[in-house]
Amino acid sequence: MTSSAPLRVVQWTTGNVARKTLRSIIARPDLELVGCYAWSPAKVGQDAALLCRLEEPCGVLATDDVDALLALTPDCVVYTPLHPDVDELSRILRAGVNVVTTAEFLTGHSLAPGARETLDAAARTGGASLFGSGMNPGFAQLLGAVATGLCQEVRTITMHESVDVSSFAADSNMDGMGWGRPMDDPGHADDVRAASVVFADGVHMLAATLGIELDSVGSHVAFSAAKKDLDLPGRPIAEGTMAGLDLRYVGIVDGREVLDLHQRWVMSHDLEPAMPVEHGYKVEVQGSPNVTLTLGLMPDQPLETLTVEDMHGIGMTITGLPVVNAIRHVVAARPGIVTYADIPIPTGPAAWTLD
Ligand SMILES: NC(=O)c1ccc[n+]([C@@H]2O[C@H](COP(=O)([O-])OP(=O)(O)OC[C@H]3O[C@@H](n4cnc5c(N)ncnc54)[C@H](OP(=O)(O)O)[C@@H]3O)[C@@H](O)[C@H]2O)c1
Repeated sequence: MTSSAPLRVVQWTTGNVARKTLRSIIARPDLELVGCYAWSPAKVGQDAALLCRLEEPCGVLATDDVDALLALTPDCVVYTPLHPDVDELSRILRAGVNVVTTAEFLTGHSLAPGARETLDAAARTGGASLFGSGMNPGFAQLLGAVATGLCQEVRTITMHESVDVSSFAADSNMDGMGWGRPMDDPGHADDVRAASVVFADGVHMLAATLGIELDSVGSHVAFSAAKKDLDLPGRPIAEGTMAGLDLRYVGIVDGREVLDLHQRWVMSHDLEPAMPVEHGYKVEVQGSPNVTLTLGLMPDQPLETLTVEDMHGIGMTITGLPVVNAIRHVVAARPGIVTYADIPIPTGPAAWTLD
């Protein structure tokens, strides 16, 4: 923490992740919430904190007036819409405003052709930096890169996320996975690839952080079926249809899969074929020595009080906080697209500084 003036921050949209980023922006003495963008017309004019389900209003009203938000000359936008808008992001960056985002962006490699170059040019023109993270993809790859720091030699890095995602069943970013589609549905695997291509960007980001060149990035998709009907709020899944997903994005060098981002997401534990989950993240480095890093996450509250919403909230916290905690480094970074390779490792604020 520094004693200098707080960095002035605009929160862009007020959905699931924003509920956690906004709470942190408001709590931190080194950050000041100066504006909030609303995508939904019905949210315009409402207090940002109340939109993010905080109990107390913060006095910042949500607006859809982009010019007015840029006229505030914020230091940084925390950009968390459901999907990124390259034109909108370019406009923010050209105005000289730094951006941290969880929205399907890490290096820009998974965007439409030319979009990465457009964003990098806009950022350099504005003298601003663009940084993307999240938990996975994002912080998980930083953990993988850090784990290799113990090694004399690294042969492969595999990262597993294995989670029961039924508490996220209704989330919009689950739409593209095709939960409940018939098994062997033609085109299903390609639709999953299209909706999850940001994990390919995670492979690119890990490669950038390790300083290695990849020949290509590939992917593997496998499905499991529900053994009985699943009555999930917002996303019922019928017996015999897709309720488990194994998704791997791999970085290839000389024909070898050297980087492997493996996601296993299940809506039930009763699947055929079985897909056991370990509820967390594991990094496995094969090298000298072999390194295994397990990331366990426990709620900051008694287990007996834990609700489904609390579980969902933990997922959103670990998605949003990597970008909030990076703000001061991104503001200080060189202009252009930056990754964990370009900034100091972001750390969380000490609790005693938040009083
Ligand atoms: N890397 C990771 O670990 C990770 C994990 C989870 C999520 N994410 C990503 O983080 C981003 C935010 O996720 P979320 O769960 O917070 O999303 P969300 O709640 O579903 O949507 C966020 C906000 O986006 C706006 N919005 C809704 N529909 C939109 C559309 N069609 N186009 C553009 N904006 C739209 C709304 O803004 P208003 O509130 O202003 O109306 C909404 O509240 C997504 O891109 C998601 O993929 C990353």
